Amino acid sequence: MEIIGIVAIAKNYAIGKDGKLPWHYSADLKFFKKTTLNHAIVMGYNTWASIGKPLPKRLNIVMSRSHELEHQPRVILMRDKQEVLALNKYLGCDLFIIGGSQTYQTFAENIDKWIVTEIPETVEDADAFMSKDFLEGFNLEEMTELEDDLKVKTYVKDVQNFHP
Ligand SMILES: NC(=O)c1ccc[n+]([C@@H]2O[C@H](COP(=O)([O-])OP(=O)(O)OC[C@H]3O[C@@H](n4cnc5c(N)ncnc54)[C@H](OP(=O)(O)O)[C@@H]3O)[C@@H](O)[C@H]2O)c1
Repeated sequence: MEIIGIVAIAKNYAIGKDGKLPWHYSADLKFFKKTTLNHAIVMGYNTWASIGKPLPKRLNIVMSRSHELEHQPRVILMRDKQEVLALNKYLGCDLFIIGGSQTYQTFAENIDKWIVTEIPETVEDADAFMSKDFLEGFNLEEMTELEDDLKVKTYVKDVQNFHP
């Protein structure tokens, strides 16, 4: 079972603006749903607040040091990365890191594979970004095309050349 980062990223590495996605591409949302369905997803509190509800048919793991969550099915609150990694040992499914920026950063060294949708835009005044080197040490494995001229690239960690 893998730990997989999944992100949609603009040409200038932007991923968010004003707490939301800066674009709307239904093809990418459909792709995200199909890819993550029946797996576990990990998100930071800001992304949880932005989505506003648990994503169905997935185990929703929300990370926060300070907030509480009301109890509801399929939602778990976790206080740090080690808690998530400990739980992951018992999950019989993949663990998708779905953002945002702080959460990708938190799990960067644990991610085995990145699934990256390239958004053909440059977002002015974005306030959430990927770090420019987030794919360092990963090799392109696969490319597919979605509707709306979107490319999705899958990168796998280059284990041979990985020196933490
Ligand atoms: N383009 C994409 O694919 C994509 C995907 C997801 C999100 N986004 C965008 O990204 C933006 C949000 O990103 P963000 O970086 O502001 O927030 P985020 O990662 O969603 O959430 C940050 C919060 O998560 C909690 N957190 C993060 N790391 C933690 C850790 N190691 N241990 C415990 N808690 C931790 C903290 O919550 P507390 O403050 O409660 O302690 C922190 O303030 C939004 O604009 C969203 O739309 C884009």
